Amino acid sequence: MKPKKISESRTLMTYRVLPQDTNPAGNLHGGVLLKQLDLVAATCAMRHARKPVVTASIDRMNFLRPAYVGELINLHANVNMVGRTSMEIGVRVEAENLLTGEIRHTNSAYLTFVAMGENGKPSPIPPLILETGVDHRRNREAKERRAVRKEERIRETASASQNGGRE
Ligand SMILES: CC(C)(COP(=O)(O)OP(=O)(O)OC[C@H]1O[C@@H](n2cnc3c(N)ncnc32)[C@H](O)[C@@H]1OP(=O)(O)O)[C@@H](O)C(=O)NCCC(=O)NCCS
Repeated sequence: MKPKKISESRTLMTYRVLPQDTNPAGNLHGGVLLKQLDLVAATCAMRHARKPVVTASIDRMNFLRPAYVGELINLHANVNMVGRTSMEIGVRVEAENLLTGEIRHTNSAYLTFVAMGENGKPSPIPPLILETGVDHRRNREAKERRAVRKEERIRETASASQNGGRE
């Protein structure tokens, strides 16, 4: 399979915060943002894989600063790392005040997607070409997170089987 550059799947999505997206204080709801995160990251993953993808996991999400009604949310998604069938997508979220031009970093999150074949099973994806120092750093950090996720899955499976399959 032909390797692909990170720039080939890089995705920017923008979202305008409307009154129905906010709480009574005018702050963007976390759940609304999560949906947009999933959308932009899935788009980036499909651009890399050129196959349907499913969300396998979303890492812990920190809300660093609020975003407000009327602001523009810019979601920047990049492939950080690929495995055989899965890939980690990093998303940086910024809120832009359209009147002043001020931009604030509000969230960062890492999502893992798995490419699916026509048989409904995980399917191989192209390797990733790392070009810049930033690409290499993100790839190194993503591999560390992947190892942690794997350990957690093993622990959770062991604990569920000890409880007779109950969570
Ligand atoms: C994600 C899913 C396809 C994995 O299936 P599975 O039978 O565990 O697949 P495998 O064990 O063969 O793993 C396939 C890949 O997924 C990765 N993976 C599986 N579960 C994962 C998880 N919870 N987090 C991160 N990666 C995961 C594996 O590491 C593997 O990666 P690799 O091929 O790059 O090495 C399956 O659990 C599923 O369909 N989940 C539901 C997805 C869904 O409905 N999402 C919401 C709507 S899109």
